[in-house]
Amino acid sequence: MREEADLRPVAATADPTESAEEAGLRPRRLSEFVGQSALKEHLSIMLEAARRREQPVDHLLFAGPPGLGKTSLAGIVANEVGAGLRVTSGPALVRAGDLAAILTNITEGDVLFVDEIHRLGRAVEEILYPAMEDFQLDIVLGKGPTARSIRIDLPRFTLVGATTRTGLITGPLRDRFGFVARLDFYSHSELQTIVDRSALILGTAIDPLGSAEIARRSRGTPRIANRLLKRVRDFAEVRAAGHVDLEVARQGLDLFGVDELGLDKVDRAILGAVCSRFGGGPVGLSTLAVSVGEETDTVEDVYEPFLLQLGLLMRTPRGRVAMPAAWKHLGLISPQGSEAEETSLF
Ligand SMILES: Nc1ncnc2c1ncn2[C@@H]1O[C@H](COP(=O)(O)OP(=O)(O)O)[C@@H](O)[C@H]1O
Ligand SMILES: [Mg+2]
Repeated sequence: MREEADLRPVAATADPTESAEEAGLRPRRLSEFVGQSALKEHLSIMLEAARRREQPVDHLLFAGPPGLGKTSLAGIVANEVGAGLRVTSGPALVRAGDLAAILTNITEGDVLFVDEIHRLGRAVEEILYPAMEDFQLDIVLGKGPTARSIRIDLPRFTLVGATTRTGLITGPLRDRFGFVARLDFYSHSELQTIVDRSALILGTAIDPLGSAEIARRSRGTPRIANRLLKRVRDFAEVRAAGHVDLEVARQGLDLFGVDELGLDKVDRAILGAVCSRFGGGPVGLSTLAVSVGEETDTVEDVYEPFLLQLGLLMRTPRGRVAMPAAWKHLGLISPQGSEAEETSLF
């Protein structure tokens, strides 16, 4: 058994937004990973079976919005089977040689984590197929008519892919994973467990009502729960002698612009644009993104999933449409809402 894998990257491909503190809050074992019970059960069976057979775990693909635990799970898989972890990402693997360099340096049983795997280039993806399927690498030497291809045997490894969008994964790539799991948003009580655990690690005194309030406003997302906890902790240290109770949590969250539903400035700007500027929609995704000054991908991957989940926004073939709850949340009068009121008078 090796020591616990750390999540440092093999190349300059780590998530640069991850601080040492965030790394400290990461669950390292399946038993520390809160929620996603069905997924955890499936994984623990696969891991146990692989351990008994003394074989690497089958390739795994984790899909879902940012901050739900995909990277953490990759580390957990490596830890649970006592394997080494190598971390890279789709955008970092530009040429086939980039991937070949990593694969030829891999140790038997290693976990190779490829974040944002939907952004792999075509050429890289093609050398990944035989590597995943037969643990073989086809390398082309030279160019033109004198080019020849050689085949290298690779150690057996486990590929763990993560993606924010399964829709962008090509069929052939998807088919080569032995297990594909979609991560869901977390419940308030699961998030509260995460907040309590993180507060313990950070040494922050927090009441159950305080952690429940943070959990409730975390957009169903552990990463956001941890981020809000840290902002509330700052607020509590400066204004409330470091202790987080319900009132401190409320005031802190309000101060940082997180509203009752956990929506932030950008979420509200998106809803506001659809409701006010585009008359409730339908409005195309790219028009909407431009109007709030965000990238199309960011709106689609980061903001939209939770707005859809809350039933504030709806996707239609003609574009995004605001739901009555969106008008209500923004304190606006919805055209449908007023109609409903009028008709109910009769
Ligand atoms: N199920 C979970 N239980 C506890 N903490 C979690 C869980 N999922 C995510 N986290 C926390 O949220 C942070 C972000 O998770 P991460 O695995 O990086 O998400 P993703 O890779 O899906 O964007 C982690 O550092 C960890 O602290
Ligand atoms: Mg990640």
